[in-house]
Amino acid sequence: MPAIQKSLLMQPKLSIRSAIKPVTFILCSLPLLLAIYAVSQNNLGANPVEGLLVTTGEWGLRFLLITLAVTPLQFMFKWAWVAKLRRMLGLFAFFYAMMHMLIWLVLDMGLEWSAVVNEIIEKKYIAVGVIALFGLLPLALTSNRWAIRKLGKKWKPLHRLVYPLTLLVVVHFLWQVRANDIIEPVMYLAVLLVLLGWRFYKSLSR
Ligand code: HEM
Repeated sequence: MPAIQKSLLMQPKLSIRSAIKPVTFILCSLPLLLAIYAVSQNNLGANPVEGLLVTTGEWGLRFLLITLAVTPLQFMFKWAWVAKLRRMLGLFAFFYAMMHMLIWLVLDMGLEWSAVVNEIIEKKYIAVGVIALFGLLPLALTSNRWAIRKLGKKWKPLHRLVYPLTLLVVVHFLWQVRANDIIEPVMYLAVLLVLLGWRFYKSLSR
């Protein structure tokens, strides 16, 4: 029996199954709620805008990696239920990335469009971030059932773009940290490479 079919047998009880999605939704919202709480308590450090940028950016990247980990987890631990969370996790990644961009645009740049354009031209890490965000947009827009049906065979190759786009986000991170802060983005890069390696291995073994 193929692994994916066998994994379908590994379903939790109905009561647990119906709780998985709402619990995941609450867990995914926690970083946002904690950030709102930190703002209300004036607890985001000397530069609150930077604090919000860092939190939303990092959660955007973490959710991208968590979304990419869904299929390997499904195969390795035979967790069929985890596949049902993929869309929600991916949309949370996009949500945090959008919040990150809006915080930059409104709170950091003060919606000064000429300054925005200058930043994109002058700072290559900003340009890469913009490309990554606009690249994620069509994936978020086509993550619903209607788009999956409409796009047919084109849906999968389109959504595989999430790998190079996550790589762009890691590059965006790497290009803006100082040399002594390199460990964190390198760790994210390592996780991404492991996930990419797993995909590559699976496609070879198929
Ligand atoms: C319009 C697109 C984007 C803009 C303008 C932008 C802007 C920025 C800025 C200004 C910083 C530096 C924050 C600081 O002061 O330390 C930053 C950091 C970061 N951004 Fe973005 N970004 C964009 C897209 C993205 C996307 C799509 C993601 C992830 C999905 C992302 C993830 C991150 C991460 C992980 C950091 C590093 C946070 C840290 O220092 O720990 N960014 N971004």
